[in-house]
Amino acid sequence: MPSFEELKLHLDNAGQSHVLGFWSELTEEDRDNFLSELSLLDLSELKAHCEGAAKAASGPSVRVEQHIEPLPEEFVGSIQRSEGSTLADWENEGLLQISENRVAVLLLAGGQGTRLGVSYPKGMYNVGLPSSKTLYQLQAERIRKIQELATLKHGSKCTVPWYIMTSEFTLKPTENFFKENHYFGLEPSNIIMFEQRMIPAVTFDGKIILQNKGKLAMAPDGNGGLYRAVMDNKVLEDMTKRGVEYLHIYCVDNILVKIADPIFIGFCVSKGADCGAKVVQKAYPEEPVGVVCRVGGVYQVVEYSEIQPETAALRGPGGGLLYSAGNICNHFFTRTFLQKVAQTFDGELTQHAAIKKVPFVDSDGNRIKPTKPNGIKMEKFVFDAFQFSRNFVAFEVLREEEFSPLKNADGVALDTPTTARHSLLTQHCRWAQAAGAILLDDHGNVHPTTSREKAEDNTPVKCEISPLVSYFGEGLEKLLKGKTVTTPFILDEKRAKELQSSVTLSNE
Ligand code: UD1
Repeated sequence: MPSFEELKLHLDNAGQSHVLGFWSELTEEDRDNFLSELSLLDLSELKAHCEGAAKAASGPSVRVEQHIEPLPEEFVGSIQRSEGSTLADWENEGLLQISENRVAVLLLAGGQGTRLGVSYPKGMYNVGLPSSKTLYQLQAERIRKIQELATLKHGSKCTVPWYIMTSEFTLKPTENFFKENHYFGLEPSNIIMFEQRMIPAVTFDGKIILQNKGKLAMAPDGNGGLYRAVMDNKVLEDMTKRGVEYLHIYCVDNILVKIADPIFIGFCVSKGADCGAKVVQKAYPEEPVGVVCRVGGVYQVVEYSEIQPETAALRGPGGGLLYSAGNICNHFFTRTFLQKVAQTFDGELTQHAAIKKVPFVDSDGNRIKPTKPNGIKMEKFVFDAFQFSRNFVAFEVLREEEFSPLKNADGVALDTPTTARHSLLTQHCRWAQAAGAILLDDHGNVHPTTSREKAEDNTPVKCEISPLVSYFGEGLEKLLKGKTVTTPFILDEKRAKELQSSVTLSNE
C-alpha cells in the first residue's frame, strides 16, 4: 500500500489535492479506511481519467450519425426467416458444444439498478410470479435444464459454468443470496463471482467528488469494465482450465433470457464468428435500447443515450425503422476474442460520460444532495469490443419469446415488474396451449388461444412453467395434451411427475 506522502504527491500531480482537504478532521479509523480506498485507485491513470471525464462531458461527442448505416438484412441471421431444419441444426450444434463443456455463461451484474429503485442487486428481485421466483433463480434453473438437455441429447454429463461479474455494491449481497438459497441446486464451485473496478465520479471541471470527508464518490466502471475485471481476477485462466471456448454474455434484467441458448451458440459457431449479438426489432424510435449497426464500415452498437432522436426515427423503404436492430445485451464471445480484447484493446475502448446527480461534501464540509446534475460518471460499454471482431454476426429473435427487461419500478408503462411478469406468464400460456392444454381462467372460462381473442386488459392467466420442467416450451405435450387446467397453475417438477404418472396410468 502506498504511504500517505506518496498518495498526496500523486493527488497533487493529478490536480486533486482537495481530496485530502479534511484529512486533519478524520479519526484514525476513518484515515485508515480512506487510505485503503485511495490506494485502490489507478494513480497512474488518475489525471487522464479526470481530465478525460471533464472533456467528454463538455463538448459534443464525435457525431457518429455521419457514418452510420443499418445492418444489411442478408447479414442478420434470424429465427423467423430460417427453415425449421436449419434451426434444428444450429440447436444440435449448440447442444453438442454444451455437452462437451465448451460453453459458459457470463452475467453482467455490477450495475446499481438506480431506475428500479431497490437497494439490493436486481437479480434478487421477485416480480410477483405465482412461484415467487427471483430473476437469479429463473436463470439458475435454466442453466440446470440446459445442462440436462445437452446431456440427454449427446450422452455426456456436462457443466455450464456461471461467471457473475459483480461490483462493490452487488458482490456481498449476491454471494449471501446464493448461499442462503443453496445455489439454487447448482454446484457452488461452478458459480464464479468476481468484482469489477470502481472509479471516482468527477465534477464538470475534472475534480474528484468527495461523498463525505473521508470517502470518494465511486461508481462501477460500466459493463465494459468486464475486460479489466477478467484480467484482475484471472477469470480467463479459469475458463481455459475448464476448457471453455464459447461464452454467452448477458445482462441481469431480462426475465425471458434464454441462457446458453443452443440455437444462438450453434448459429455463431457454424458461422465461425468470434463475436455476435442477439437483436430484436426495435419497438418505437425512443425505445431505450442500443442499435446494432455499422459506423464507418465497422460493426458497433450506438447506445440509445447517444443516438440523435431524428436518426432513431428514420424510416426505411418498407416503412419500418431504418435502425431497427435493437440490442438486447445478449452477446456471444469466443474465449479467444474475450482474451484479445482484455489483453490488447481495453485501453482503446471509448469512455462514455454519464451526467448524474452525485451527493457530495462542499468545501465547508456540508453534505449536499444536489437537485440538478453536478457530476460525471465514466463508463465503458461491453459492446464497444465489437469493432475489434474479425467475424461479427447478428441474430434476430422474437421479442415476445426472448426480451422483456426489468428496468423501472411499477408506475410507468414499460419495462416494469408487471410487464416482466406478464411477458413470462403470456409465454408460458402460449407454450401450454401449443402443447394442447385447455387453460381455464379464475372464472372457469376457457382462456383464449389467439391474441385477437385476448382478454380486454391483456392480463395473462397465471400459468407458470418451471424451467426445470421445460427450458423453452419443449417436452410439454406428453404432460398437457388434451388436459383441462385450472389456473393459477404452477407446473413444477412435482406436478410434472404427477401428470406424467396419470398419463402412464391411463395408457395402461
Ligand atoms: C443495456 C445496453 C443497451 C441495451 C439494453 C437492453 C449496455 C451498455 N447497454 O442498456 O444497449 O439495449 O441493455 O436491455 O450494455 N452493469 C454492470 N456494471 C456496470 C453497469 C452495468 O455489470 O458498471 C450491468 C447491469 O447490471 C446490467 C447490464 O450491465 O445487467 C446492463 O446495464 P444497464 O445499465 O441496465 O443497461 P441499459 O442502460 O439498460
